[in-house]
Amino acid sequence: MKTIILSASLFMLSLLTSVSTAQELSFTDAQVESGEALYDEFCVMCHGDNLENGRFGTPLKGFFFANRWKDRSLGELARYTWEEMPEGNGKYLNMDEYIALIAFILEANGLESGDTAMSEDFAELDTITLPFE
Ligand code: HEC
Repeated sequence: MKTIILSASLFMLSLLTSVSTAQELSFTDAQVESGEALYDEFCVMCHGDNLENGRFGTPLKGFFFANRWKDRSLGELARYTWEEMPEGNGKYLNMDEYIALIAFILEANGLESGDTAMSEDFAELDTITLPFE
């Protein structure tokens, strides 16, 4: 009996380990497109129409943004945006909408879309370091 429990828990452990291995940063064109539409509705008034000319919000692309977020995780950026944005009204949108907004912001920072959609799972996004210089 003990052996069965032990091997069962080792099996669970290996499942957990495989889930938390590092993921690739990826997002699709469809996510960028819906992110852009959401941005124009909920973010543009503060962050500006080119993401760095806002009167009320900090730049979301370029040197300032990259410098602030380099060496930090995609999960941290997604979680911050979900909790705090639109400013004073965090968690206002659905999770897939926040993820689409992040995809739009990353593309504006020069990252390329691909075939795999960005996950909505913070634990997965936490394993990805933002590739800013
Ligand atoms: C009412 C104005 C306002 C709106 C609307 C708004 N933001 Fe912001 N945003 C800010 C301000 C101000 C900051 C800086 C907050 C701070 O540093 O404490 C900020 C910061 C951010 C940051 C972090 C930037 C950094 O360099 O750390 C992100 C990402 C962000 N906003 C995304 C969004 C998204 C996406 C939306 C739309 C859903 C949005 N914001 C809507 C005002 C706004």
